[in-house]
Amino acid sequence: MCGIIGVIGERNATPILLEGLKRLEYRGYDSAGVAVGFQGHVNTCRARGKLVYLEERLQQTPVLGYVGIGHTRWATHGPPTEENAHPHNSLNVFVVHNGIIENHQELRAQLMAQGVVFKSETDTEVIPFLIEQQLTLGADPILAVRLAIGQLKGAFALGILFRGEDDLLIAVRRGSPLILGLGEGENFIASDATPLVPYTRRMIYLHDDDVAVLRKNSVVLTDLSGREVKRTEKYSHVSADLTEKWPYRHFMLKEIFEQPSVVGETLKGILHSVNRTVALESLVTELALSQVQAVYIVACGTSWHAGMVARYWLESLAQIPVSVDIASEFRYREPPLLPNSLLIVISQSGETADTLAALRYAKLAGQKVLGIINVPESSIARESDAVMYTQAGPEIGVASTKAFTTQLIALACFSLALAKARSLLEPQIEVDYVGQLLSLPALMEQVLVLDEAILTLARSLQYAKGFLFFGRGSCFPIALEGALKLKEISYIHAEGYAAGEMKHGPIALIEKDLPVVVLAPRDFLFEKVMSNMEEARARGGRLVVLTPVLEENSIVDRDQIAMVACSSFVAPILYVLPLQLLAYHIAVLKGTDVDQPRNRSPK
Ligand code: M6R
Repeated sequence: MCGIIGVIGERNATPILLEGLKRLEYRGYDSAGVAVGFQGHVNTCRARGKLVYLEERLQQTPVLGYVGIGHTRWATHGPPTEENAHPHNSLNVFVVHNGIIENHQELRAQLMAQGVVFKSETDTEVIPFLIEQQLTLGADPILAVRLAIGQLKGAFALGILFRGEDDLLIAVRRGSPLILGLGEGENFIASDATPLVPYTRRMIYLHDDDVAVLRKNSVVLTDLSGREVKRTEKYSHVSADLTEKWPYRHFMLKEIFEQPSVVGETLKGILHSVNRTVALESLVTELALSQVQAVYIVACGTSWHAGMVARYWLESLAQIPVSVDIASEFRYREPPLLPNSLLIVISQSGETADTLAALRYAKLAGQKVLGIINVPESSIARESDAVMYTQAGPEIGVASTKAFTTQLIALACFSLALAKARSLLEPQIEVDYVGQLLSLPALMEQVLVLDEAILTLARSLQYAKGFLFFGRGSCFPIALEGALKLKEISYIHAEGYAAGEMKHGPIALIEKDLPVVVLAPRDFLFEKVMSNMEEARARGGRLVVLTPVLEENSIVDRDQIAMVACSSFVAPILYVLPLQLLAYHIAVLKGTDVDQPRNRSPK
């Protein structure tokens, strides 16, 4: 994801922009740049690669001024070169952009026909020229922005500076998040709260098509027609030292080890720990849960895996039909939705475009939407009818870990609440399930003690060319998640399968020494998983088995990760932890950029 920071005030903007970009580094990027205005001129500085190269350039040729915009870019249109790095500019207009302009080719052709010469391959570069066109026609900068924005299709968050306007910074969004930070004699813009908290905690979350006009001493918001709009100011609780990963080597590892505590936090808000019941009474009323006849779950990536686990819980506990979809498929398939159904959207960021589109599709069809979201005030959180917030805190590593387990917690509790609303949960059973959930932080600590053993295992597996992950029941999505984590950060090809599917094709992949990671909790599917494991072993696969210690060790030639004993209800939440650690250690041994894996495209 790209990152935006902008400031207008009385201090030198450049160090604020650089510090802000550092705090946005976790979003991943492959080039960066700043534009700073001073005495009617705007100077830009851009560099390919990490921020240190931008910093070096700025040391060689300092740019000073009291208004500025900065950007970290993840290449989408055009490779990560200096020419494609933001800010992009026309003669008078300087722009940083997150998102994708879908009609940029058409706009580019129109502008070229009028004599515009483009310097980059980006979709962004049409924006300053569209604004410039309006300036030439006589519009003032604010009107010019409003008119130009009206021509754009797609998603964007923009920070815009003008030559000759030292006390003006314009911010606009549609589809991509953008926040204003309100200070004393200075104001800010940013794509999330992290770069703003060192300066201010007073924030305004822009809505789609809000145009914010920032000056040193004022902020005015209008809609695209120029009518003033009011947005509520929020106080941000984001920790100022969240970009600190010490004593861990990577954010991902820090976030893996944070899981017992953030799971505990998430549980606190959802369960009554004394009488051991689910505390979701207002959600039950708000969503009329007792009337719900079907559930649709829509999400992407790891969040989709969380939805797949939830299907097992919802079907067995609440006995309700559940379908789980990838958001990018759901939104274009336009499925008919049953009346009295509920759509659950799951998203860490709350900004994933396909998931947001799925939510809007369901709302247009008159469905109620529940969001399981980590980032407060995100677009999906705002547009959902009800939200269960996961208390994972900011997830800095690109690979999702603590967001996933807290999503599972929210979904497990929601499944209990729905079962209860449908009169399918005996009080004693509720107490038992809630007790199991409450024991999770301690059980997770026990699983994380396996870290050293998993590192040893990773050393012996790091050169494998491919991996298979097998699971059954609610551990099938965990097999998918284990494979996704490994692919994403170590770049080793990996696939997850429902173990029972192995004989229907994937078994052909098994050859001598291919690592086959098998999830085998002690549940009613255990014997079946054991048979699948034998099939893999017979073909020379190198078995890595996650299971509680077996009394009768029927298979000895394998690596075993000795899991804690647990019920099948909480097994997916515990069995994912060793897979996160395995992916992490293999990636570190391979020397990849664990927190910012390559080719991560913007949302
Ligand atoms: O923010 P979201 O949960 O909507 O993001 C969806 C996916 O992009 C995300 O879960 C992705 O698959 C993970 N970062 C992978 O580790």
